Amino acid sequence: MRYDVLTIFPDMIQAYLEEGVLARAAKQNLIEIEITDIRAFARGAHKNTDDRPFGGGDGMVMKPGPIYRALQSVPRIAEESRVVLLTPQGEQFNQAMAWELANMQQLILLCGRYEGIDERIKKLSVDREVSIGDYVLSGGELAALVLMDAVSRLIPGVLGGETSSQEESFEDGLLEYPQYTRPRVFMEEAVPEVLLSGNHEKIRRWRREQSLKRTLAKRPDLLQKARLTPQDRAALEELKGKAEKH
Ligand code: 6GU
Repeated sequence: MRYDVLTIFPDMIQAYLEEGVLARAAKQNLIEIEITDIRAFARGAHKNTDDRPFGGGDGMVMKPGPIYRALQSVPRIAEESRVVLLTPQGEQFNQAMAWELANMQQLILLCGRYEGIDERIKKLSVDREVSIGDYVLSGGELAALVLMDAVSRLIPGVLGGETSSQEESFEDGLLEYPQYTRPRVFMEEAVPEVLLSGNHEKIRRWRREQSLKRTLAKRPDLLQKARLTPQDRAALEELKGKAEKH
């Protein structure tokens, strides 16, 4: 996967990419990240990348020229290449979209700023508009980082020795079970006995039940789409029964 991030704040992106899973993946050539500074494609003495909106109103709009030229400067290295605009008006990012994007060979991530970008860029150059949730950020930079993180960890080899992404929350549509590490007792709080039992089947069942219980309590909406076995469904019915008695 090659990512090209187009932004007026290249240092924000660079700083995040210097540590952690993405840095390691880049070092191992599992991903490649190129940052393009949109301002480098601005013209005039002031190198403005934004301007006042036609029709009036508050705020500034990102000018089409610098963005268009920045996009033109990015080499299309593969057939499976998409231009993604990060904007609160986009389709909401989720794990299914992360899998879909992980199949691409190149993602060109355009970070919007200010009150938005000139509408013509969307029509001329953008394949997909993506939002990371229903709240307002000052710009698309954090959203681009979120997207790259979620997508990269699905690329084979990126997670290395750590748990495979398949085992984690959301891959089967449930929340994670509770985790504990040493010490066995911390501030008078003990680790659940079952986890010390050495009985792997019992542990597996306990963890699954905890996942179901948590999902039912915190995110019941997820249960509709979750991948549930007949045993899961039976356990859920029991949990719901208990909840009703209270
Ligand atoms: Cl992609 N951009 C901005 N500016 N705000 C957001 C967002 C994106 N996703 C959620 N809020």
